Amino acid sequence: MLYSLLKPLLFHFDPEKVHELIIHIAHLSPQIGKLTGYKHNQRLRLKIGNSIWNGPVGLAAGLDKNAEALDFFSHQGFGAIEFGTVTLQPQLGNDRPRIFRYIPENSLRNSMGFPNHGLLTIESRLSREKIIPFGANIGKNKESTPEESLDELGTIVATLNDKVDYFVVNVSSPNTPGLRSLQEPDYLRKLFCELQKLTSKDLYLKIAPDLEIDKVIELAHLAHELKLTGMIATNTTIMPAKGPGGVSGSLLKLKARKVHETLLNLKLPIEVICVGGISNVEDIKSIWRMGGKAVQVYTAYVFEGPDLLKKINKDIIQFLDKNNLIDLNQFLSLPLEDRVKILDQP
Ligand SMILES: Cc1cc2nc3c(=O)[nH]c(=O)nc-3n(C[C@H](O)[C@H](O)[C@H](O)COP(=O)(O)O)c2cc1C
Repeated sequence: MLYSLLKPLLFHFDPEKVHELIIHIAHLSPQIGKLTGYKHNQRLRLKIGNSIWNGPVGLAAGLDKNAEALDFFSHQGFGAIEFGTVTLQPQLGNDRPRIFRYIPENSLRNSMGFPNHGLLTIESRLSREKIIPFGANIGKNKESTPEESLDELGTIVATLNDKVDYFVVNVSSPNTPGLRSLQEPDYLRKLFCELQKLTSKDLYLKIAPDLEIDKVIELAHLAHELKLTGMIATNTTIMPAKGPGGVSGSLLKLKARKVHETLLNLKLPIEVICVGGISNVEDIKSIWRMGGKAVQVYTAYVFEGPDLLKKINKDIIQFLDKNNLIDLNQFLSLPLEDRVKILDQP
């Protein structure tokens, strides 16, 4: 409610400045998060990998890059929070302006290039006590070679291991030169084998929506072969006509949906966390219909604020009530045909 009143004013200013202001306030006064009055509902809890998420909607990477507002976001109705992308060394990222709004299309474009405070500063902000699972999204520094990045990512994983529930390897941002070319089996095999020596936490691979479908399938089989917990699909999409960087929100939705469909249709025993243009309970139901469980959001949260999660979670509870389901876990444990029958009911 408050956010919808403030939004016309906030959207008047540079998106990154507004973002920094909100993160700053949330960092200084984490209690503000509680003012939204959201209480986690046990009926929405579900197991994703080895973590118990507080609900099916996670916060996607990039909003709390530096883990500055984890307390705040823990009270927003998210099921889990992914911070980062964290790199070993701090870096400034690309030149500003580097976030752009497309208001009629509920979309954003960013060309940030992993600006972040670096591993050690971010690690110092993490406490072991938390009410919600945290994931660390990790990436390589801009100047590092693929060979150097193996050690870099290993150091990040070893350092954060006791403080997070899962790791996401981000080789799919369009804003670090050459990064997407690391979505190659040889590199990924080497990397994940190294990381698995350093952690037993859940490991995910985050992929781009711009990959050929054959490549998506190849990477899914690789994730399964390497015994990763799963994949996070997708990152932002390139749309050169709009400018450099990656586009998110409604303009990404169809492209991301194709990747979700492809991954879920494979029915591999890996988690597929769907992200890209998700903004309401109907979007989530369409993921459930394909066999998915958890999703993440970023852009819709920027456009709708805290009410987004309140609304989605309330709609899910109503759906459970209407269908006499004890909890979400019960629904998501049903065979797919039974799930679809329930979803098809008017
Ligand atoms: C401004 C901005 C910064 C982002 N930064 C990151 C990042 O650092 N690491 C990452 O893996 N994804 C990043 N993302 C991508 C999101 O995590 C997500 O995959 C993408 O935005 C699609 O979801 P959405 O349509 O709900 O926004 C960023 C997205 C935006 C809009």
